[in-house]
Amino acid sequence: MNIILLGPPGAGKGTQAARLQANRGMVQLSTGDMLREAVAAGTPTGLQAKAIMERGELVSDEIVSALIGERLDSSGGQGAIFDGYPRTQAQAEALDGLLAKRGRRLDYVIELAVDEDALVKRITGRFSCAKCGTGYHDTFKQPRVPGVCDACGSTEFVRRKDDNEQTVRTRMAEYRAKTEPILPYYEQRGLVRKVDGMASVDEVAAQIDAILDGAR
Ligand code: AP5
Repeated sequence: MNIILLGPPGAGKGTQAARLQANRGMVQLSTGDMLREAVAAGTPTGLQAKAIMERGELVSDEIVSALIGERLDSSGGQGAIFDGYPRTQAQAEALDGLLAKRGRRLDYVIELAVDEDALVKRITGRFSCAKCGTGYHDTFKQPRVPGVCDACGSTEFVRRKDDNEQTVRTRMAEYRAKTEPILPYYEQRGLVRKVDGMASVDEVAAQIDAILDGAR
């Protein structure tokens, strides 16, 4: 099964994709994570993407579609969760081509419907383990022992550079202008399922499970 998680910054795409990867043997393909890895490694792609990401704008369609193609090839045919991709009409069309070339198809586009004002709080409170990447939140998901990662015991945490209010507003404007308009492309194919992204993490997960299990 191949699915897209679609929603604005902070809607919970990464949270739900990680859970699906852990529970269903699917692979999370996050273009945001791939680009951050490229920036950290100082690759040519990373050098091009760094300033664009810090402004909250979109990296070029060609770069992100090439990254997705490479990861599809290295993921060995496992079901894919597209997290943060596609974000433009050109990317949506590129994804159709990438899947068709590999004899695969999209099963669902899951739209996480959210209230944008609440998202600023979600994003600016987010942090993650510097060692294993497990995600936390100042209000919604603290480590069980304060200052110690639940998953690996590390005591070092990091916050994303683009998680400040000004950049978040630009990221949301980009979403409204370029990403939301691709929904009809999938609606006309009957692929879109909407979930309430303002519910708790577990409730959102249950809604997604119901869709993937064919109950909705
Ligand atoms: P990317 O990394 O994709 O960021 P984003 O889309 O802005 O999404 P986020 O990671 O901020 O949010 P999320 O929906 O994953 O939420 P999360 O689960 O973390 O992209 C970053 C940048 O890279 C872009 O701005 C762009 O420059 C570039 N880029 C990436 N892909 C691109 C593409 N395809 N084309 C062009 N450029 C691209 O949740 C947020 C917080 O809320 C967490 O702390 C979490 O614990 C908490 N939370 C989650 N769910 C809930 C809930 N239900 N209730 C309460 N709290 C919750």
